[in-house]
Amino acid sequence: MFTAQNISPELTVEESSSDIWIPSPYVVADKHVENDDLVTFVYEPASEDILDPMQPGQFNMLYAFGIGEIPISVSSLISDHPRITHTIQNVGAVSKACCNMRVGDQIGLRGPFGTPWPVEDAKFKDVIIMAGGVGFAPLRPVVEFIEEYRDDYGEVNFLFGTRDPHSILFHQDVISLQSDPSVNFQITVDHSFSNWRGNVGVVTTLVEKAEFDPENTVAFVCGPEIMMRYGAYSLIDAGVDEENIFISMERNMKCAIGHCGHCQYGPLFVCKDGPVFLYPAIKNYLNIREL
Ligand SMILES: Cc1cc2nc3c(=O)[nH]c(=O)nc-3n(C[C@H](O)[C@H](O)[C@H](O)COP(=O)(O)OP(=O)(O)OC[C@H]3O[C@@H](n4cnc5c(N)ncnc54)[C@H](O)[C@@H]3O)c2cc1C
Ligand code: FES
Repeated sequence: MFTAQNISPELTVEESSSDIWIPSPYVVADKHVENDDLVTFVYEPASEDILDPMQPGQFNMLYAFGIGEIPISVSSLISDHPRITHTIQNVGAVSKACCNMRVGDQIGLRGPFGTPWPVEDAKFKDVIIMAGGVGFAPLRPVVEFIEEYRDDYGEVNFLFGTRDPHSILFHQDVISLQSDPSVNFQITVDHSFSNWRGNVGVVTTLVEKAEFDPENTVAFVCGPEIMMRYGAYSLIDAGVDEENIFISMERNMKCAIGHCGHCQYGPLFVCKDGPVFLYPAIKNYLNIREL
């Protein structure tokens, strides 16, 4: 069974750089357009000032010079440190400026921040990864980690729900997951097109297609808040212990180190107590709209 303690990040703010407020200069080394509003970037350091290695689930603050700063999760750990991969959805001023950057452009990064997904503690258990839309991005390093240590895990299920076939991100990953016999990969769309032959419906409908021993299963859930709430309900209905369900939360952030209160969630700070939370720690707040 998991406790809040075993999801504490190995890297704490105190142990990390004393210049935690000052973004380190990085440059865009690679850019890949995922779909209409999502772009994946690989950044590399533009100076000796290098961020510490990230863990699955952690995030950096990305600073578009003169525009603003936003929290973005690491979306792959395959590009060797000190390179860093982030996938950004264009939803507003800062994310738009980030998405519009080209190879060679400079960006400021500070981090890494936050609690990681407890991938080590999930070893020797069955795993359910449940992602909604861009929620795939923070979970992608979990998939990479499990694939690297595949023999250490039991059944692995990846349930992915997205808006429509055009909104699918990480196409190459999806294709290889679909043909990987060691992963039960299921995908569904909210709205289909005439050439879509797959599942249609919300991601929670995929739980019945997952293969797992409920008493020995860990679940990692990330997506829109309503999806995570119903995702947790459906997993609990299927017998998964709520103590084994982890959820990654999003809130507006400024400092990312527990000072400003922008990310407050009930008594918790998403930036330092999360973003990855044990479901029981936040379930009462998940039910409150606009919190
Ligand atoms: C820990 C963490 C990890 C994140 N990881 C990713 C990621 O990997 N990829 C990614 O694309 N986004 C991620 N986000 C969300 C991202 O930070 C926001 O989309 C971004 O801050 C929007 O800023 P903006 O200035 O571009 O838009 P704004 O002008 O601030 O907002 C545009 C719209 O988005 C809404 N919005 C703004 N911030 C958030 C938020 N945090 N959550 C929900 N809605 C918001 C606003 O209400 C508004 O409707 C993450 C957020 C957190 C807290
Ligand atoms: S962002 Fe400032 S307290 Fe979390």
